[in-house]
Amino acid sequence: MQRKMYRIVATVMAMGIMSTVAITASAEDKKAPTSKEIMKALNDGKTTKGLCTQTATLGKEMKWEEAAKVAKELKEMGDALSKAEPKKGDPESWKKLTKIYAERTTAISEAVDKKDPKALEAAVKAFKDGKTCMECHKAHK
Ligand code: HEC
Repeated sequence: MQRKMYRIVATVMAMGIMSTVAITASAEDKKAPTSKEIMKALNDGKTTKGLCTQTATLGKEMKWEEAAKVAKELKEMGDALSKAEPKKGDPESWKKLTKIYAERTTAISEAVDKKDPKALEAAVKAFKDGKTCMECHKAHK
C-alpha cells in the first residue's frame, strides 16, 4: 500500500517537472521566434490578417491605442528576424536584408506612435513592397 503511494507521488512529481520544462520551452519560443513564425505573424494568410494589415486597419480607423499594441508586436518580430535562422543563403545578405526589414517595421511603429495616418500608410506600403519580399525569398527561403 505504501509503495503504491510512493509511486503515485513520484509520478505526480515527474509530471510537475515535465510541465515546468514545457513552460520554460514555450517561454523561450516566444523570445526567439523562427523566420517562419515571423513571416506567418506579419503577413496575411488565406483566412487571417497579419500584424501589418491589422496595424494599417486600426490606424485608418484612428484606433491608435489598439494600433500601438499591434505595432509593438510587429516591431519586436521585425527586430527578431535578424536573429532567426534563414532557411538558406549567405549570412551577409541575410544581415543586410533583415536590417531593411526591421527598419520598415520600425517605421510602421513610429508612425503609430506619432498617430500619423499618412506616415503609416507610406510605411505599410513600403513594408508590403513585393520586390523586397521576392529578393529575400529568392536568396533565403
Ligand atoms: C529579410 C528576408 C525576408 C523578407 C524581406 C520577407 N521574407 Fe517571407 N520568408 C523569409 C524566409 C527566410 C522564409 C522561410 C521561412 C521558413 O520556412 O523557414 C519566408 C517565408 C514566407 C512565407 C511562408 C510562411 C510559411 O507559412 O511557411 C510567407 C507567406 C512569406 N514569407 C511572406 C512574405 C511577404 C508577403 C513578404 C513581404 C512583405 C516577405 N515574406 C518578406 C524571409 C523574408
